Amino acid sequence: MTESRQRFYHLTTFGCQMNEHDSERIRGVLEEDGWMPAVEPDDADLLLFNTCSVRESAVSRLRGRLGEARRLKNEKPERLIGLAGCFAQNRKVEIFRDMPFLDLAFGPQNIADLPALLDSAESGSGQSGSFSDNDFLSAALPARRKIKYRAWVQAMTGCTNFCSYCVVPSVRGPERSRSARDIIEEVKRLVDDGVIEITILGQNVNSYGLDRDPGTADRVSFADLLMKLDAIEGLRRIRFMTSHPKDLGNDLVEAMRDLPKVCEHLHLPVQSGANRILDRMKRGYSREHYLELVENLYEQIPGVSLTTDIIVGFPGEKEEDFYRTMTLAAECQFDGAFTFMYSRRDGTAAADLPGRLPDATVKRRMHELVSLTQQIALVKNEAIIGEPVEVLIEGPSSRGDGLRGRTRQNKVVNYVAGASVKNKAEGCFTTVTIDSATSTTLKGRQACD
Ligand code: SAH
Ligand code: SF4
Ligand code: F3S
Repeated sequence: MTESRQRFYHLTTFGCQMNEHDSERIRGVLEEDGWMPAVEPDDADLLLFNTCSVRESAVSRLRGRLGEARRLKNEKPERLIGLAGCFAQNRKVEIFRDMPFLDLAFGPQNIADLPALLDSAESGSGQSGSFSDNDFLSAALPARRKIKYRAWVQAMTGCTNFCSYCVVPSVRGPERSRSARDIIEEVKRLVDDGVIEITILGQNVNSYGLDRDPGTADRVSFADLLMKLDAIEGLRRIRFMTSHPKDLGNDLVEAMRDLPKVCEHLHLPVQSGANRILDRMKRGYSREHYLELVENLYEQIPGVSLTTDIIVGFPGEKEEDFYRTMTLAAECQFDGAFTFMYSRRDGTAAADLPGRLPDATVKRRMHELVSLTQQIALVKNEAIIGEPVEVLIEGPSSRGDGLRGRTRQNKVVNYVAGASVKNKAEGCFTTVTIDSATSTTLKGRQACD
């Protein structure tokens, strides 16, 4: 390949918002190195996948896409195939042996090494990888954001909780917090660049700062970090995820209540409603503690929306345990729930637990839980009918007959814009009166500007 020819990459991202955010860095690093994005994989010289390992379903989807990538490489053998992210990191020992068609692979902490890996792959020196767990935070790298008015901001990396089912701590390393000063500077730069809404990312933002040296001047709690960010002029909305119930203090609830820019939405994964299962999951809290947190949230923050993650079919989950999850969901009145069937991950503590459940049982429970949580979400959304809500406009609605935006509570609103209304542009605020609701979206009319 000659140096002067323009080279194109195609990047596919699996997994959580951390990975989406890392993909912005991967694009930034590639584009600084002279690569251009290709619209279709067919047009790319480099097919890159930012992978997830959290459940087997993410890995199966990756395998499907890799089949297609191998076909494209057979058509044009100089095409490169690369894997980034958590699956690559998790399989670092055997990945090149198991996938001989791969040219390069690297972990979430090694995005900065991408140009060197590409040089080595292009010079024909064989498969090259980078998987060291260093202290480097990808936040320092250049990023290419797709949306001008909204941005993710990484407050911390890794996780030290070791929930018994989860691979994240072993692939992303221990929890490390960035300095508050760096985060604030990054947000100010983003705001100068047109950003009005940020989402602060961390696997467990409630323990932000605790890993930092108590002697450092800018070791602050997450609630204090929110207070500092709230003071940034020009910023309009602050979101964050994920919160862990074991570390959710009242200072954060008060910050959500009192700080005008912090949105009234909390994603608080419960995983199970049965203490027996929570213990086996090593979650570090009880059903009763979780219910107390929820009661306090509803009491202190009017109109707060609450979403959660739930795992069904954890090893040893009995019918009565599952029933306790159902009653907890009913008590908590979640605005939304991400429900997952337990997926056994090699190397996790739960992988060796007895009591694996038959697929049919897990599917039946999943089905019951999904119908309950959807029913609850619908009732909660219907309660907003008739109300005016503040919406940040995101673009045309998926049906194409109107516009789409999001409320402070993180609910998607599809609406018809009034003919005389000025505010129709992406990234602007408007007020919409809600006319109807489903379990996942609201529908309405633009009220005024
Ligand atoms: N740090 C976050 C999210 C981690 S992964 C947290 O602690 O909440 C997102 C969700 O995936 C988890 O909340 C959990 O519900 C689910 N998950 C993780 N490992 C899983 C597994 N092995 N099987 C099924 N679901 C899993
Ligand atoms: Fe995984 Fe638990 Fe860490 Fe979340 S808190 S990333 S579920 S180990
Ligand atoms: Fe995220 Fe999947 Fe990694 S959920 S942290 S991309 S294993």
